[in-house]
Amino acid sequence: MIDPQPLGGAIARILRRRGLDPAAVARTEIPEPQLRLQALDAAAARIPARYQDALADHPEVIAWADEVRRAARPGPGGQPGIAKATSLLLAGPTGTGKTHQAYGALRLLLADGVRLRWRATTSADLHALLRPRPGHDGERDFQELLRVPLLLVDDLGAGKSSEFTEEVTWRLINHRYNEQLPTMLTTNLATAQLREVLGERVSSRLREMSRHVRLTGPDRRRPPTAA
Ligand SMILES: Nc1ncnc2c1ncn2[C@@H]1O[C@H](COP(=O)(O)OP(=O)(O)OP(=O)(O)O)[C@@H](O)[C@H]1O
Ligand SMILES: [Mg+2]
Repeated sequence: MIDPQPLGGAIARILRRRGLDPAAVARTEIPEPQLRLQALDAAAARIPARYQDALADHPEVIAWADEVRRAARPGPGGQPGIAKATSLLLAGPTGTGKTHQAYGALRLLLADGVRLRWRATTSADLHALLRPRPGHDGERDFQELLRVPLLLVDDLGAGKSSEFTEEVTWRLINHRYNEQLPTMLTTNLATAQLREVLGERVSSRLREMSRHVRLTGPDRRRPPTAA
């Protein structure tokens, strides 16, 4: 176990500025805290501006990230790499912080020293990717999403569904389910609606493969009403 003290200097200050707790970052056996900062910096370039400093503060989301970290297996260089693990389904009304928690969990894993390749997409972008267009073959990108070690699918079940969107979602979820690849999913739909929109076979797989976390509370985008 790394003593939190070595993180007490410049690195600890950088971590605090980024909203991360140095003591938490120090709890894994990674010899190089510097590596974690590099990983966080590399991820920052691909995280949307709004969620750059997202912090996963929901206990069940933190517990999920911990479970994924514990399931990680050492890769080349000894750093733990993401492996087969449970997925995370974040459900709740608009503005309750689902996307925030998802990027926060991703940053938590990186800060914890888990080496991971990740991709993020919205459900709508995923469908757009595969819509037939002259001169463009989205299938290659789709194959990358199917296989990437950690995937975030934001806004599952949003938008109009059709046979085409059902087929795309089915292929994605079925593959990730079969291979037990950790996937973070967010949705505004309640469980019964999810079943209706995605169908029984997809929702049954989601039920088995993921930890379900329900976010509640007011829409954080709205200013608080005066008392
Ligand atoms: N725990 C948090 N701490 C600070 N800010 C937060 C937190 N959770 C969410 N926010 C902020 O609240 C706003 C809404 O959060 P977010 O976009 O994650 O909601 P959402 O549940 O994904 O909404 P939607 O269903 O519309 O996609 C964002 O500006 C986000 O940065
Ligand atoms: Mg969202």
